[in-house]
Amino acid sequence: MKVSEAILSRKTVRQFSDQPVSEALVRELIETAKRAPSGGNLQPWTLHVLTGEPLKALVEEVSGKLLAGVVEEAEYPSYPENLKDPYKTRRRIVGQQLYDLIGVPREDTPGKLKQLARNFRFFDAPVGIFFVLDRQMEVFQHADLGMFMQNLMLLAREKGLHTCAQGAWARWANTVSSSLGLADHEILFCGMALGYEDESAVINKLHSERAAFEDFVTLKGF
Ligand SMILES: Cc1cc2nc3c(=O)[nH]c(=O)nc-3n(C[C@H](O)[C@H](O)[C@H](O)COP(=O)(O)O)c2cc1C
Repeated sequence: MKVSEAILSRKTVRQFSDQPVSEALVRELIETAKRAPSGGNLQPWTLHVLTGEPLKALVEEVSGKLLAGVVEEAEYPSYPENLKDPYKTRRRIVGQQLYDLIGVPREDTPGKLKQLARNFRFFDAPVGIFFVLDRQMEVFQHADLGMFMQNLMLLAREKGLHTCAQGAWARWANTVSSSLGLADHEILFCGMALGYEDESAVINKLHSERAAFEDFVTLKGF
């Protein structure tokens, strides 16, 4: 598979099949993804990769807390407080497209929360990954980790797998941190679901838009 094919076929999958992913495959993906660049070659990332019982135990713990109405303080805000346009509109559009696709009307807040809660089951993916940073890290190290994550997402495509990057896990940072045994100096950055797409799931038909080249590129001297 060409890199461009991996990029163009990557999409966020929000319903996975129950086909398992072997340890050998997980290892291969991560071994290759770790060639991601990082400023000063810090390689600031730490990964926790869960499947089977440990994954089930965490998912059930969070589900139980959700049902009981427990709310944790998120480590990171998911978005800036007063998100400006065009970002605000882009976010609204993709959200609307998603809910239209799965038949959740705009005013159906419980329906939207139900979909949000699917995050905390990793959308039924057989593998859940947590990306962790040292709290000492700065903006560039967050970019480094983003590059690692993108490597992983593209390599997954090469092997016929799909992914969903999940900032939503920041809402359960305390629970996840204690379940993973993170140290005080560590911070949960992001989660990621990994597995095979459930091709029959309508939610996976979403094709998100992108801005036109002219809207975000300035060319000079060409
Ligand atoms: C860092 C990051 C965090 C994300 N967090 C979530 C999430 O918590 N839940 C979710 O359903 N999608 C999440 N997404 C997926 C985005 O919504 C998605 O990438 C965007 O809408 C573009 O769609 P596409 O990935 O299908 O091209 C996240 C993506 C990134 C890069």
